Amino acid sequence: MHSFKELLEKFEQQFGKRQFPEHPANLYDPAQYILGIGGKRVRPVLCLLGNELFDELHPDAYYAANAIELFHNFTLIHDDIMDKAPLRRGMATVHTKYSDAAAILAGDVMLIHCYDYLNKINSKTRQKLTNVFNKAAREVCEGQQLDMDMEQMRPEQVNYADYVNMIALKTSVLLAASLQMGAIIGGGSEGNQQHLYEFGKNVGIAFQIQDDYLDAFGDPEKFGKQQGGDILINKKTFLLLKALELCTPVQKEHLHQLMTTNPANKVQEVLQVFHDCRVDAWAEKEKERFCESAFEHLDAIAVLSSRKTPLRDLADFLLTRQH
Ligand code: IPE
Ligand code: IPE
Ligand code: MG
Ligand code: MG
Ligand code: MG
Repeated sequence: MHSFKELLEKFEQQFGKRQFPEHPANLYDPAQYILGIGGKRVRPVLCLLGNELFDELHPDAYYAANAIELFHNFTLIHDDIMDKAPLRRGMATVHTKYSDAAAILAGDVMLIHCYDYLNKINSKTRQKLTNVFNKAAREVCEGQQLDMDMEQMRPEQVNYADYVNMIALKTSVLLAASLQMGAIIGGGSEGNQQHLYEFGKNVGIAFQIQDDYLDAFGDPEKFGKQQGGDILINKKTFLLLKALELCTPVQKEHLHQLMTTNPANKVQEVLQVFHDCRVDAWAEKEKERFCESAFEHLDAIAVLSSRKTPLRDLADFLLTRQH
């Protein structure tokens, strides 16, 4: 068995080489660029951990892990166009560095490469893995659409349960599916797979809460994204939804005004209200709540508790991350 850091190294050793042909450079360079500017590689490591929870690492786990990381990077390229984001991993986003057209097409071709990797998997599990992958991929698209629909809605029209459902789809299901795919390769039973999936889903919700928190309060040097990017586009994050619930009528009116008039100091002003309403403290509690559910599912998996240590460590790392 390996720690999550060891698995990260193993993954990088084989994923770090060039993934795409040299030509046409205008198609493949943007795809290689996003892979080369970093990323935590959380999802592929989850896939390897899912495998090792039940059995020794199988070569198929690397194929699945590569497909998942390529898919994730493809979604980031397209997400940055949708979110009008200038920075990713501390560097220019693909559409800013190249063009919208190049970013769209690079994303498309990366998705095809995912399926090349899935096709390399041993035929016994390939179909099941592809089904799990496709379900998650479809749900990510659904979550992204709900996210954009919510951007257009007035905050009162979005309730917290809708927000949790949206982030579960856009973010958590891929983390959950990564674990489940690893478990399938490792020969975990259906029941254990389901518990592992639910563990990933709950960790994923806490992970997106942390992402929303860092978007507002994180150190942009470490986080690598534009500070207040979500505030600028009126993203319905939990910070906004909860602030509107906790704030005074005067603060509420102020928030509404900032969201409709978009003044130059919008980010600072909105952050001040968030701070005054103490939504940052609330975020900590909420993350803990989802973590507790996650760990209940991890506990229910019928393998020796010591085998679960790397997963616990990774969950702790993810939920206290600053980047
Ligand atoms: C960013 O995911 C997108 C979200 C779902 C919040 P990560 O925070 O895993 O991004 P990288 O791959 O490490 O850059
Ligand atoms: C990203 O959510 C989810 C997907 C990429 C599918 P965000 O829009 O919050 O991710 P970041 O903050 O840009 O990484
Ligand atoms: Mg987005
Ligand atoms: Mg985004
Ligand atoms: Mg975000």
